[in-house]
Amino acid sequence: MQRTAIYPGSFDPVTNGHIDIVERGLKIFDRIIVAILRNPSKKSLFTVEERKEMIEISLNKYSNVEVDIFDGLLVDYAKKRDAGTILRGMRAVSEFEYEFQLALMNRKLNREVQTVFLMTGLRWIFISSSIIKEAASFNGNINGMVPPIVSKKLKEKFGLISSSNE
Ligand code: PNS
Repeated sequence: MQRTAIYPGSFDPVTNGHIDIVERGLKIFDRIIVAILRNPSKKSLFTVEERKEMIEISLNKYSNVEVDIFDGLLVDYAKKRDAGTILRGMRAVSEFEYEFQLALMNRKLNREVQTVFLMTGLRWIFISSSIIKEAASFNGNINGMVPPIVSKKLKEKFGLISSSNE
């Protein structure tokens, strides 16, 4: 039987920390579905379609990684995709409370789905999508912290290079 994990999140945008979690997860699971939440109530920089494309490009060397968009309850999506595990990355103790709450709520909603946490590599511990967006908005150098396609798209978004320069 194939072990499939769902790796859910906002990914606005994907960072090297997220990529690191997927790569660690692939050592445990046969297949990972990166699932982007379509959340109209949360203001995002990139559309879900843009986010999906950036993740697909960044992980295209892995044939056992799929990128998808979901809405509604995560556990319902996991069931629909026949996945028994939710994969989440954790960087610091400060994230524990929220992650704990999320995992326990998901367990309450569906006892068949387990949450697995993986620690990000030390070099990505300070990186988050929000801090990357902030640095990029002020033309800070974010190379090496995000996949090259994300670096390029961020520069385009903030008007630092023209999209016609492709
Ligand atoms: O990267 P994020 O924004 O911390 O990811 C949060 C995410 C998408 C995993 C979480 O908000 C989620 O699963 N939302 C879908 C609705 C849901 O099932 N919520 C948890 C139980 S109420």
